[in-house]
Order: sequence, then C-alpha cells, then structure tokens
Amino acid sequence: MEVIIKENYEELSKFAAQFITDQINNKPDTVLGLATGSTPLGTYKELINLHKENKVDFSQVASFNLDEYVGLPKEHSQSYYYFMNENFFKHINIKPENWYLPDGMAKDIPQSCEEYEKKIKEYGGIDIQILGIGGNGHIAFNEPGSSLASRTRVKTLDEKTISDNSRFFDSIDEVPRYAITMGIGTIMEAKIIILLANGENKADAIVKTAEGPITSMVPASIVQLHPRATIIVDKAAASKLTREYSSEPAKLNL
Ligand code: F6R
Repeated sequence: MEVIIKENYEELSKFAAQFITDQINNKPDTVLGLATGSTPLGTYKELINLHKENKVDFSQVASFNLDEYVGLPKEHSQSYYYFMNENFFKHINIKPENWYLPDGMAKDIPQSCEEYEKKIKEYGGIDIQILGIGGNGHIAFNEPGSSLASRTRVKTLDEKTISDNSRFFDSIDEVPRYAITMGIGTIMEAKIIILLANGENKADAIVKTAEGPITSMVPASIVQLHPRATIIVDKAAASKLTREYSSEPAKLNL
C-alpha cells in the first residue's frame, strides 16, 4: 500500500484522473469501480476535461458503482444513478449499456445482489476501484463492524452516515436507512484500488486506515492487505499521519 500526499484537492483530483486515464489508455476496455459522494467529484470533472481534450476514450470502458440507496428510483435527485449520470456519464462517451449500479428498487434484493456480483465477474472483474472514505472509516456502505470478507448485500446505514448524508436531503428523516453495497471482499478483488480523501474531517479516518491496525471497526484499513492500493490525500486529510510520505508514486502502479 502506498500513500501519496498532494498539496490540495485540485492536485489530488488531477493526479487521480491522470492515474485512471493512464490505466484506460493502457487497457481500453478497463472495468472501473466507481464511488459517489463529494470526494471523487473533482476527479470526474478532470476526467471529463481529459475526455474533451481527446486524451481518454471511454467507448470500451465498463463501470460498476459501489452502492445505491434502497427505495430511491433512478430519477430521484439523490439516487446514485442520478448522481453518476449528472456528474460523469452524460459528459463522456461511456456506453449506457456498460455502466452498472446496484438496483435499489429491485423486488428481490438478495437475488439482485448476486446478479451484480455475477455481472462483475462476466466483465472479468474490476481493474481499478476508486474509493472514498467515511468519517468513521467506512468504504462504500460497509460500516464499522462489517465483515471484511463481505459480498454485495443490503446494509443498514449507521447514525453517523445518515447524519453526514443528510446535507443532501431536505431533512434527516428523508435519508434512506438502507443501501445496497459491494462488500469488502468484493472491493478487495479489484486489481488496483485508489482511495481518495480530502479535508480535515477525514484526517482521523486516514491515520487509522494507513497506520492503525487492520480491523473491521475501520473497514478501510483492509486496504493495507491489498497488493496494489494507493491512498491519495490532500494535506488536510494527511494532517494526522505520523510517518513520511511522498507526493509522487514510488513506482508506476500500472
Ligand atoms: C459512496 C461511498 C461512500 C463515500 C464516503 C465518503 O459511493 O461509497 O463510502 O465514499 O461516504 O463520502 P464523501 O466523499 O461525500 O465524503
């Protein structure tokens, strides 16, 4: 696992976008694992710019999102489907039939979770997984205490996540209580992981993830076991780290 510290959010986003671009240029049919939330927005914006400059082509790319709320239809402005389309997909040339999110409206959710896992396998697995991190160390909606071997399934959101996410809803009561999420075991099968974090409110979670013990109470700490994981943070998110880290990768991770 490698930690890279960038000066600020803009530098972090540019670096992550270039990292993903290099991967796609290397393997045009890359399978991306994508996250929602505020952290990757800058990366998506940079990727859109790179696409407009003809530096990256998504025509053969497929993508699988980490998670989706249960009970929000695709058209709901807070569904992750809507978020991905608005903030990324409609601005690039990824084929609509090649992007996937868990189905929060499925009648049989356990079955749809199994199908999601199968679909990822059909595409040959995720090549590069982008992760954000919750203030409590969650990855996707795998909250503290989640099994480190878990697969795609439905999860109850914890109180901290509900209150963190309430900023996007009119009131906290409107925040869904359940979500479908890729499991930690699913995420760990990605060939490359990049975990992004910016801002001081992520500093605790980042020091526990990078320098603490591997524990299900900090789900992100599992990335220490991944052979090709890179944590990319800005200075604020890095502010509690105690060891020396570089601002550039030691090796090319492709
Ligand atoms: C979203 C996701 C979540 C977020 C995390 C951080 O798909 O998987 O785990 O990455 O909650 O959210 P932000 O980036 O909004 O701080």
